Amino acid sequence: MTNADPAAVAARRRTFAVISHPDAGKSTLTEALALHARALTSAGAVHGKGGRRGVASDWMEMEQARGISVTSAVLQFDHRDRVLNLLDTPGHADFSEDTYRVLAAVDCAVMLIDAAKGLEEQTRKLFDVCRHRGVPVITFVNKWDRPGREALELLDEIESEFKLKPTPVTWPVGIAGELRGLVDVRDPGHLLRYTRTPGGAKEAVEETLTAEQAAVAAGPEWEQASEELELLRETGAVHDQEDFLAGNSTPVFFGAAVSNIGVRLLLDAVVDLAPAPAPRPLLGGGERPVDAAFSGLVFKVQANMDRAHRDRIAFVRVCSGVFERGMTVTRAATGKPFATKYAHSVFGQDRSSVETAYPGDVVGLVNANALRVGDTLYTGARADFPPMPTFAPEHFAVARPSDIGRSKQFRRGIAQLDEEGVVQVLASDRRGEQSPVLAAVGPMQFDVVAHRMENEFSAPLRLEPLAYSVARVTDKAGAEALNLSRLVHGEALTRTRDGSWLALFPSRWQASAFEREFPDALLETLVAAHE
Ligand code: G4P
Repeated sequence: MTNADPAAVAARRRTFAVISHPDAGKSTLTEALALHARALTSAGAVHGKGGRRGVASDWMEMEQARGISVTSAVLQFDHRDRVLNLLDTPGHADFSEDTYRVLAAVDCAVMLIDAAKGLEEQTRKLFDVCRHRGVPVITFVNKWDRPGREALELLDEIESEFKLKPTPVTWPVGIAGELRGLVDVRDPGHLLRYTRTPGGAKEAVEETLTAEQAAVAAGPEWEQASEELELLRETGAVHDQEDFLAGNSTPVFFGAAVSNIGVRLLLDAVVDLAPAPAPRPLLGGGERPVDAAFSGLVFKVQANMDRAHRDRIAFVRVCSGVFERGMTVTRAATGKPFATKYAHSVFGQDRSSVETAYPGDVVGLVNANALRVGDTLYTGARADFPPMPTFAPEHFAVARPSDIGRSKQFRRGIAQLDEEGVVQVLASDRRGEQSPVLAAVGPMQFDVVAHRMENEFSAPLRLEPLAYSVARVTDKAGAEALNLSRLVHGEALTRTRDGSWLALFPSRWQASAFEREFPDALLETLVAAHE
């Protein structure tokens, strides 16, 4: 296997994530996908929720207490001679910068929408990151077995909110809650009918009806669906692969993950439409071909997964070449070698060694204390991938050492967690060195900080939440204007990691008010600041 041509193997890989709002059915869909495909490694499938099997990694007590998994799981499975890597995007209480960073490691995203709810907040934020990173998006409208909104209305919402042209590939026959079947728009003369087997088997049986049979089985609904399909064709809502890859359109699928309806067609779409790993752009221009020597991107670093060892595991997306366990790679940031003796394919409790990995695959490197999120690793010719973007934080808290005698440890710990990308650290002259402001995408990041400060740095801290929820990048002049403004509530601080200025506001409304007063002061460089 190690002699395999990485380009040929990479062409068979599809690496993707599901983006959705909590409760849209991501866990259900993940299981349904794995059930349809042949799961190669059930690498701790999904979040343990509602009694469902889960990763249940127990690296932190608070994690156990909350019954959720902090670990991004990766599921690898086979479908039609392709190998699919499905990367989990943590999304409930554990929504954090890591959720966004996963999208730096995938080539495609499946946007899962609840048919009754349409686009929701978390979907919007994650979609923004996909757009920013140029990740093409396939849409799956879930829960069509339950009453919901009209299909055309949902398409309108995607188009008007995301400026993304929806191009249905399957179309529901029957309104939400009264699904009579699906039409594959590439084969509009047939109805795919799903019937539940007597005896209550979960998976619905799929059968293909001719147009005549469909007209008998689902008369008015079949007729209406045929008219809607005609309308979609006339308005040009037809899948175009180039448009999709360019991020201008999204192929749309309908179904019900809980009964496996439409899931096979979605899986086929991931194989047929989602792009294989492509050459990755390099910092300063040029790109790393898939068949170049090994290169990989560290997109997540998880600390303390194994309490006995207090180690760190770095999640690396292979970008080019062949990864072989034991190889020595170079860390681009320092030029120093890193030995990969302990490489794992499986995350959570159940680790097993990975010997070889190809572009699109994810490996976990243990003992990765020297690695940071955004690092490039390589062998052969030097590779430097662009740094991980910084994401707009929405939660802010002042950190203070509980024990003033541990100030030195406190400062060291905070600096280390900042460098690792666990949390963003903000400072200002006004607040002083002993009380930095921590900024996070999700509140769980604060819990991680508190836990690690106490257990790893022996510097327990107190966190006082601040009433800000919006952060925008500004410059020195904007910062001064904000700190002096009497009209707008807000505060400007510097990010210690790169010295840039962040303007914090209690609401979007206040941010807009400031922008009206100082039209040039706010710069749009933070990702996922959905307006
Ligand atoms: P999440 O990971 O995105 O948070 O969602 P999850 O899969 O946990 O699904 C959330 C709820 O939606 C679950 O119900 C699940 O059964 C339901 N669901 C998922 N897909 C479908 C679907 O296609 N149709 C219908 N009708 N329901 C669906 P729950 O009551 O919260 O949990 P459970 O007791 O059913 O597991």
